[in-house]
Amino acid sequence: MIPFDQRSGRLWYDGKLVDWPEATLHVLTHGLHYASSVFEGVRIYGGEPFMLREHIARLRASARILDFDLEHADETLRLATLEVVAEAGITDGYVRMNAWRGSEVIQTAALKTSVHTSVAAWEIPAGYYAAEDALETGIALVTADYRRPSPQYAPVKSKAAGNYMIGTISKNQALRAGFDDALLLDDRGLIAESTGAHVFFTKDGTLHTPTTRCTIDGITRACVLGLAEQLGIPAEVGDLAPEFTAEADGAFVCGTACELLPVSRIDDHRYDLRGNLVIKQLIDGYRELVAGARKLELHHPWKQ
Ligand SMILES: Cc1ncc(COP(=O)(O)O)c(C=O)c1O
Repeated sequence: MIPFDQRSGRLWYDGKLVDWPEATLHVLTHGLHYASSVFEGVRIYGGEPFMLREHIARLRASARILDFDLEHADETLRLATLEVVAEAGITDGYVRMNAWRGSEVIQTAALKTSVHTSVAAWEIPAGYYAAEDALETGIALVTADYRRPSPQYAPVKSKAAGNYMIGTISKNQALRAGFDDALLLDDRGLIAESTGAHVFFTKDGTLHTPTTRCTIDGITRACVLGLAEQLGIPAEVGDLAPEFTAEADGAFVCGTACELLPVSRIDDHRYDLRGNLVIKQLIDGYRELVAGARKLELHHPWKQ
């Protein structure tokens, strides 16, 4: 794979399209030094960014939580995304939006810095977010050493770069140990999420998922809960102790990038992926949704 800073094409940077290698920033940038940086990932299906308005709304909210405001209107960012996607001729791909504080100060306080924004998009090669056969084989999770912080200890509702530090360390450790991803508990020792996706369980035909007390409010998670309602699958949202992984008869993770992926194993507990109709129905439903073949009324904070 070509490194991201050496690709060709154009991306949107502070209001205009620039050649990909020219989209640079200075080493003395507040966003780099103090993690005053937020982002979004959006999937493109059939040339259409899925839930784009919702992702832009969350980007704006993430920035506000970190005490800065985006300099561009939602509609500007939406049109910028469409332009970038169309220019690159992407059919199935990914959009990455970032917003970060600029270089005016190198100190913690940053009351008056500039705010920069970029939107880039690229085609996703098969197997980039999960092995190509992961839908059949499932992914293996290992419980991470780090825990998701309590909402009192970190701006957990912001999709802030700084919140991903423990995700990167945990996922690296999981991969080195032969797993596909890590499962993070929260500050209370209850199940929180994986490093880049929310987690669901099935038990006797009912869906179970933790609350979003210490995670971002997931757009895919909201789709899954909406689909469950449409499909008549009972769903319970509440605290889940780690022991629940052994009580459940199935599990899956869900997020924009990985979509819905069955879990074959958490630590030493293995799930039988065959015949789990709840997971199959939801995966099929999500496919229909992203293809525009199913409509869904979403209940979540980013509803537009
Ligand atoms: C840490 C984390 N949790 C959950 C999710 C899933 O959120 P969404 O479905 O909105 O992509 C993501 C991906 O954005 C994530 O990075």
